[in-house]
Amino acid sequence: MTATFRGGNGHVRALAGCLCRRIRAGRVADALLIGVPAALNAGRAGDRSLRAVASIRLELDAINLKEANTRVAETDGGEEIARLARAVNRTLERLREADDRAERARERQRQFAADASHELCTPIAALRMRLEEAQLHPGETDLDDLLGHMLRDLDRVQGIVTDLLLLTRLGAGPGRAERVNLTALVRAEAARQMDGHDVHLGLDPAVIVDGDPEQILRMLGNLLDNARRHAVRTIRIGLRRAGDGAELTVADDGEGVPLADRERIFYRFVRLDAARSRARGGAGLGLAVARGIASAHHGSLHVEESVCGGACFVLRMPLSSDRRA
Ligand SMILES: Nc1ncnc2c1ncn2[C@@H]1O[C@H](COP(=O)(O)OP(=O)(O)OP(=O)(O)O)[C@@H](O)[C@H]1O
Ligand SMILES: [Mg+2]
Repeated sequence: MTATFRGGNGHVRALAGCLCRRIRAGRVADALLIGVPAALNAGRAGDRSLRAVASIRLELDAINLKEANTRVAETDGGEEIARLARAVNRTLERLREADDRAERARERQRQFAADASHELCTPIAALRMRLEEAQLHPGETDLDDLLGHMLRDLDRVQGIVTDLLLLTRLGAGPGRAERVNLTALVRAEAARQMDGHDVHLGLDPAVIVDGDPEQILRMLGNLLDNARRHAVRTIRIGLRRAGDGAELTVADDGEGVPLADRERIFYRFVRLDAARSRARGGAGLGLAVARGIASAHHGSLHVEESVCGGACFVLRMPLSSDRRA
């Protein structure tokens, strides 16, 4: 924020600079404690200006960033005072926006902590219940069955914690930077996951990207796992070079994703049919992780409608710098 006092005296200019610096630092009241007495002592400013400054001070004192009205009146007191008021208002607006952003971030953080705790609580409570049952009725406990269930509950806890850890690390970029044959990875992951479905592959040969092979495999795994869960019968996987990039599409003939949810499903813990997804073991982290990995590799991931009416996930990544066609 700058405030120049054309034709004003040095005192007023210095006062404006001082005010601006303090307001920028969020010290609004502080700015006034210094600014107003200085302005009053300057003496050479007219009464009207001093009254205007005093009125701005009173308004500033009353302002609370949480309230909608965070403006001082751009009152009469001369052109320079009006400029000062406008500058104060611009700063107040920026402070209010920053405060709103911080509040939204805090709310997301609270929501995230609540969701994560809730997701972890379910398998932990199940584990505890099974153990207590076994302790109460050791003679009636089928050990193999108990251990099988407990391992599944533990897998679930471990899966959530691993995904959350990966999500926090992804902000720092991919774990490794190697040349990765995306065609080979897609083919291998499709073969691993797709038994029982009608799977069509249309893959350009040797599409090479740079990145962390484990993370890329993880991203592919999450997309194909979703396709497998949602497809009725058919899954189509395409991979092609498009300019300097690789484009992967994973399409199925399932229920698809409604337009209104096509961004939301990439948020952590979002499941459109929570009960059904949870029953299948889904925590709602797969797409958040997949998009996080795509972004860490300078790529993007979104969902569209597939030609067969289901969902079509589209991943774009830059080709390896030394293998561009
Ligand atoms: N191919 C798809 N067709 C229709 N809906 C989908 C598809 N893929 C994902 N979704 C919707 O998006 C939600 C979020 O997907 P995501 O992969 O993040 O979580 P999940 O599959 O439920 O659980 P997780 O991946 O953590 O095991 C799903 O619960 C589902 O509602
Ligand atoms: Mg999933």
